[in-house]
Amino acid sequence: MKIGTYYFPEQWPREQWERDFDNMVAMDLQLVHMGAYAWHAIEPAPGEFEFDWLNECVELAAKRKLGVILCTPTAAPPVWLVDRYPDVLPVDDAGRRKRFGGRRSYSPTSPAMRDATARVVAALADRFGNHAGVIGWQIDNEYASDFIDQNAHAVAAWREWLGKRFDNSIDKLNAAWGCRAYGAQYTDFAQVLLPAAHESANSAGGTANPHQLLDACRFWSWAFAEFNRLQARILTPRVGERFVTTNYANPPAWPDCNPADMAGDLTLMSWDSYPVVGGEQGVKDQNFRLGDPAQIGLMHDYMATFHGRWGLMQLQPGQVNWGQTAPHLYPGAVRLWLWTALAHGAEFVATHRYRQPRFGPELFHHGLVGPDGVTPSPGGREFQQTIDEVDRLHLGALAGLAGTEPAAATEAATPPAPTPCVGLVMDLEQLWYFKILPQSKRWSYERLLKLWYGAFARLGCAVKVLRPDQEWPASIPIIVCPGLQMVDDATVDKMTAYARGGGHLVLTCRTALMDRTGQLFEGPTAKPIVPLIGGTIEAYDGLPDGLLAKIDLDGKSYDWGVWADLLYSEPETKILAKYDDQFFEGAAAVIQRKLDAGVVTYCGVFGEDAFTNALAEKLATQAKITVTALPPRVQLLRRGPYRLLLNYTTNQVEAPAPARTKFLVGARKVEAAGVAVWKE
Ligand code: GAL
Repeated sequence: MKIGTYYFPEQWPREQWERDFDNMVAMDLQLVHMGAYAWHAIEPAPGEFEFDWLNECVELAAKRKLGVILCTPTAAPPVWLVDRYPDVLPVDDAGRRKRFGGRRSYSPTSPAMRDATARVVAALADRFGNHAGVIGWQIDNEYASDFIDQNAHAVAAWREWLGKRFDNSIDKLNAAWGCRAYGAQYTDFAQVLLPAAHESANSAGGTANPHQLLDACRFWSWAFAEFNRLQARILTPRVGERFVTTNYANPPAWPDCNPADMAGDLTLMSWDSYPVVGGEQGVKDQNFRLGDPAQIGLMHDYMATFHGRWGLMQLQPGQVNWGQTAPHLYPGAVRLWLWTALAHGAEFVATHRYRQPRFGPELFHHGLVGPDGVTPSPGGREFQQTIDEVDRLHLGALAGLAGTEPAAATEAATPPAPTPCVGLVMDLEQLWYFKILPQSKRWSYERLLKLWYGAFARLGCAVKVLRPDQEWPASIPIIVCPGLQMVDDATVDKMTAYARGGGHLVLTCRTALMDRTGQLFEGPTAKPIVPLIGGTIEAYDGLPDGLLAKIDLDGKSYDWGVWADLLYSEPETKILAKYDDQFFEGAAAVIQRKLDAGVVTYCGVFGEDAFTNALAEKLATQAKITVTALPPRVQLLRRGPYRLLLNYTTNQVEAPAPARTKFLVGARKVEAAGVAVWKE
């Protein structure tokens, strides 16, 4: 794994460039990222390209053996483009054009934007595509938008997209969107408006059409994917073997784009991780200064689902400017995040940014060096420390080593075994629909995924994130599908085949309620999985804010507050947990049945952490997985022959290593925010 930084030479005096590159090397950095937002400097006037400055910087970097990641500059269109073609700008619901400035001020469907993009990307790639110092390319930056653009080009593209989706049949659209509700039938595609973005079905007085909103999310993701494809198709033939990626802002938080829509045009996936930004809610202890290891791990592993190859394009280097509060990071947090990326197999980590700016909106954004441009920040020192540790032990190749191979239950029982692996199915489309139709404001698909991820990671299991459209390896002993609310036949068949073949399938509340248009199935609740789960869902409950209720699991009482399915179980189905209070005390909350060679567990309750942890431990034990129960927020991972313990707590923890283990990094007693690495 290579470690490096963003650098914006166009923002700093030329006479400081050489010094800055020297200092990057003195800090032992291995790569530098340039070009994001530099369109104005690359093409100061239409068709007039200025590459000398960038070339000088690429050469300065290459001479110092800093690998260069170049970025296409399209996230910030220059003022001349917007002046000349105002229809480059997106238009909001009220018909107001976004103004020039900031960034992301363009519509991906605007022909003028697409033409200008094609020209600048081709010029850049012609100039630097084969430069020996360039190791890879990033397209644009964090595709996202404040709203779904109502630009005339976007609306026309939407109608064309709908025509293709529904075979030019308005009747099919009316049926898929349930337009008979509120008499909203269309007679022509030209009548169909593009919904106001990120609107939920509860907005507009509860009258917005959720199926239409869902398709608008799909369309918008498609529109960005088309824009990305335009750039990828220009880059790919010009850059040889170098990777082509785009960097996602944490996808569940910024769900404009489904990475699955773009993956086919990219050779490596990347995302930007900002674990402690000052927006933390419900903070109970000091651990928040380290971020949430389940959120970080989930995203790392999700990125790996596409091509195996993934990188962390931006890693928070210190405090940032855009939170609501300004928490100081826990000392060691940045180092811990770097080791976490390595442990999950990142090919590289870059940080945004090298220098803390003295101007502009990000002036309170820390860099690896402070506002004087030379003094390493605390985060900068942790970068250097980590690079040195990784280098000293030649662990840089660790990320390239295989992570955990799925271990069959029987193998896992005989130590020393490969780390057991649990599958977790994640699907961004579910997130869209849950945001559109949450049904309970406490419901959070992302939190449900993180609960299950964290519960198995705490047991020393590697969690292999899977997508519904991927193969689910039969060798994985447990696969959990949290909240897979919309399903098609193929997904249900996959669930069934996995369980019948000997897997342990775990389904949760709000699974298989709907088809992929977001319409309920005609029949009992969760009709397609009724034959699988050995029971039925009789009713559900969601509690008001602040209220928690009880569940009993193996004689111990746990809390739930978000969602509770009340279950009926068939006689041969076991009840694993029951509700322990409220008027439905005694009703089944979790049921389990055998299905041919396998097992199906239906967890009808969205429990709090302790419950999910206890249930995961029970299921792992049933599946004969050897678990190492660690304190919450402590993760134990494997890469090749190495074990890595990551302590996301502010307490010391003990590494579960065999006696007389020689620690390569850290020691058996792992300090707060510490890391330990050993061979086992
Ligand atoms: C990212 C963005 C970067 C920078 C960073 C600040 O979302 O891509 O350009 O603004 O946030 O933390």
